[in-house]
Amino acid sequence: MRTETGQVFKLKDYKPTDFVVETIDLTFELDPTATRVVSRISLHRRDGVAADAALVFDGDELALDSLQLDGQGIDPSLFEATPHSLSVRGLPASGRFEITITTTLSPQTNTQLMGLYRTNGVYCSQCEAQGFRRITYFYDRPDVLAVYTVTIIARESETKFLLSNGNFVDGGPKDAGRHYATWFDPHPKPSYLFALVGGDLGLIEDSFTTMSGRDVALKIYVEHGKEDRAGYAMDALKRSMKWDEEVYGREYDLDIFQIVAVSDFNMGAMENKGLNVFNDKYVLADPDTATDADYANIEAIIAHEYFHNWTGNRITCRDWFQLCLKEGLTVYRDHTFSADQRSAPVKRIAEIRLLKAHQFPEDAGPLAHPVRPETYREINNFYTATVYEKGSEVVRMIRTILGPDDFRKGMDLYFERHDGDAATIEDFLACFAEASGRDLKQFALWYSQAGTPSVSVSTDWNEPKKTFKVTLEQSLAPTPGQSRKALMHIPLAYGLILPDGTEFDGQPSGNETENGVFHLTRRKQTFTFSGVPGRPVLSINRGFSAPVTVAMEQSDADLAHIARHDSDGVARWQALNEQATRHLVAASKLCRDGRNLPSAKDLAELLVATAANESLESAFRAQALALPAESDIAREIGSNIDPDSIHKAREAVLSEVARFGVAVFARLADSAPKGDYSPNAEDAGKRALAGAAMAYASIAESSPGRAKAAFDAADNMTMLSQALQVLAQSFPAAGETGEALASFKTRFSGDPLALDKWYAVQAMMPGDDTWERVEGLLESEDFDRSNPNRVRALIGGFSAGNPTGFNVASGAGYRLLAREVIDIDKRNPQLAARLLTAMRSWRSLETGRQEQARLALVSIREAGDLSPDVSDIVDRMLAG
Ligand code: TRP
Ligand code: ZN
Repeated sequence: MRTETGQVFKLKDYKPTDFVVETIDLTFELDPTATRVVSRISLHRRDGVAADAALVFDGDELALDSLQLDGQGIDPSLFEATPHSLSVRGLPASGRFEITITTTLSPQTNTQLMGLYRTNGVYCSQCEAQGFRRITYFYDRPDVLAVYTVTIIARESETKFLLSNGNFVDGGPKDAGRHYATWFDPHPKPSYLFALVGGDLGLIEDSFTTMSGRDVALKIYVEHGKEDRAGYAMDALKRSMKWDEEVYGREYDLDIFQIVAVSDFNMGAMENKGLNVFNDKYVLADPDTATDADYANIEAIIAHEYFHNWTGNRITCRDWFQLCLKEGLTVYRDHTFSADQRSAPVKRIAEIRLLKAHQFPEDAGPLAHPVRPETYREINNFYTATVYEKGSEVVRMIRTILGPDDFRKGMDLYFERHDGDAATIEDFLACFAEASGRDLKQFALWYSQAGTPSVSVSTDWNEPKKTFKVTLEQSLAPTPGQSRKALMHIPLAYGLILPDGTEFDGQPSGNETENGVFHLTRRKQTFTFSGVPGRPVLSINRGFSAPVTVAMEQSDADLAHIARHDSDGVARWQALNEQATRHLVAASKLCRDGRNLPSAKDLAELLVATAANESLESAFRAQALALPAESDIAREIGSNIDPDSIHKAREAVLSEVARFGVAVFARLADSAPKGDYSPNAEDAGKRALAGAAMAYASIAESSPGRAKAAFDAADNMTMLSQALQVLAQSFPAAGETGEALASFKTRFSGDPLALDKWYAVQAMMPGDDTWERVEGLLESEDFDRSNPNRVRALIGGFSAGNPTGFNVASGAGYRLLAREVIDIDKRNPQLAARLLTAMRSWRSLETGRQEQARLALVSIREAGDLSPDVSDIVDRMLAG
């Protein structure tokens, strides 16, 4: 039985620990089912803490073997150990003392993948957020910073490498075929950044010379035989190290930086000090098994984890409510890194798409929470799109408001003032307020108010007077626990596009505009431009300067004007996307009501002209061709959603665009670069454009022939998986699709990461019988329920990536997910809870599906013995 306490943690209850930890010395004797852990901790009582206050450490499923104070046994009446805590009384009132704790673990049977576990025979740890307490009793909280010394002892034959944080101190042989290694990390750190790895792995090595001339050894450990797939990750690491020096003046601070790739991992990667541990999906790549998107993800995640060294590790979080302090900021940093390495507008478009697809629905549903939450039951459930992606948008807005120079000054101040601290959002904001002399009090609401603000925009053109007025009005709907909202500071970048396509460069009256940004701080504000030569078109929230929804009556002609002339590439895409979204929303509603669809000719013309425009970069043209997804349309519709009519309407529009541009698409379908594959952004953009064109051309031809030929001719995974996706999405029942799937399976059956794609592509096939296919795949022999990547590919692909298949009206999709969540929860609660969030928008479905979804959620709640992770999610989804 689980010890579910239903405890709620609150930001306002923060209190420092009673005792201060100075150093911790850990010794591990690794064994699959009986790993011995000895932890020697030196501490002192904090000033002002009562002399009779007990020391209370956290634990999770632990058993205490022995406990000592300064090397002596302790009277059993003075301590109490349970699986989840250790408390010790009668400790010295002053001065330093040492506690020694011994525990025994079974990494082999640790299926949660938190704490110390085994993956493919490799010992590996994951401690964020609260995994360290599954290793030993400790103050497992981010504001307790200690200096770690770690000794690992293990059988040499099984563990060629024994790794931990910091610098290598010494190592060598021991008795009975065992060897040992000792590591010392001079940088005080919280327990969540502790890491240990022991295993027989392949290694690739390189080095980096920092800006002050220090040499850093770089090592990436992967499964044997996969060393040649780690080169791109190594290259991305070196580029990240250089970029952080150039852009933020941040240098690496140890003699060695190591990355270990493992195959069983709950998330993307982990920034443990000096020893990052990665999901191997975000390290391993070669042209045959990884797509361009995989390469881009590797680059971004390698950078993300490396950047945490300063934003997260050297400056960490006071408590887990401050998670966005490290995550939002580090996502912002990895976004700008990728923008610098690749095409900035194309990167920004991808970010906007992702934010709207994942964060907007979260903010609009039962799981909505502020970027900095104020309460939680299970912290694992707060590693969300809101904390990460919206958290990044908030940092981006700070830069927009301050400008690049003051933003950099604020960052410098933050690094200087808080290096070595466990800090808060208030600390962070104070640096920017001070560096810029601005008041950020109202802006700080972005951290405390949940929900996506909405801005309604109206314009008024006075032809005789040549004045143009823009009126903005903000509102923010209630979210769980926040019924009343305060007015926010919303920075909206804008441009006035004149009839000839140039931009008006005059300023409006008043002082609420700066550098092309309206500062909306009151409920309603009007900005008046005078001396405007002709009726301008307003391009608003350019580059997505604020994560808000904009409501504006703007004609298709005006949108097309922006799409053609805006000097900002992102704004051009925004206008195109807005026009496409509007059309698809209208068509979906008509389709639901059984009415005829409107002609998509204007949209088709605009899309095809963009596709054919060789002065634009290929990747941008590909983004333009990618119509809003069914889930995007559903989100815009907002309520009473019928996924089938959305699918039907979108298919009809796709086909109209395809037929309109068939000649262009047929030509572009063959435009992918020939010859040796390179993952660079330019080639990737060309492949993306060719792939999008191939999809349209196939639809226009109503035949799988072109895609099947592309599949057979493909000489890299990007082209291969594009072709397979076209077959699966547009020709699910064709014989060619079956043949391609079978051939893919045979070819990649020995390669788990590539095989995940085979599962995912089938999980996402549209149709109301896909759930039966998924049931079959769940039974297939390669389906390994203990591997999170495999589970996410199949069950996550189906529930989060297949609107018609998952939302089949009978409710079979929901029942499948509920059953699997209950089953997975027994082994890996974090994974189960995350899969379940696919149902977060259930209340916006039409009533029949809503009821089926509710029944499935109730069946989970009633299953009994749920983890805190799953019960927290299911309770919040059913509340209200
Ligand atoms: N801190 C990690 C990152 O964003 C992610 C992370 C948090 C994580 N908790 C985890 C990874 C648990 C694996 C397992 O970079
Ligand atoms: Zn992170």
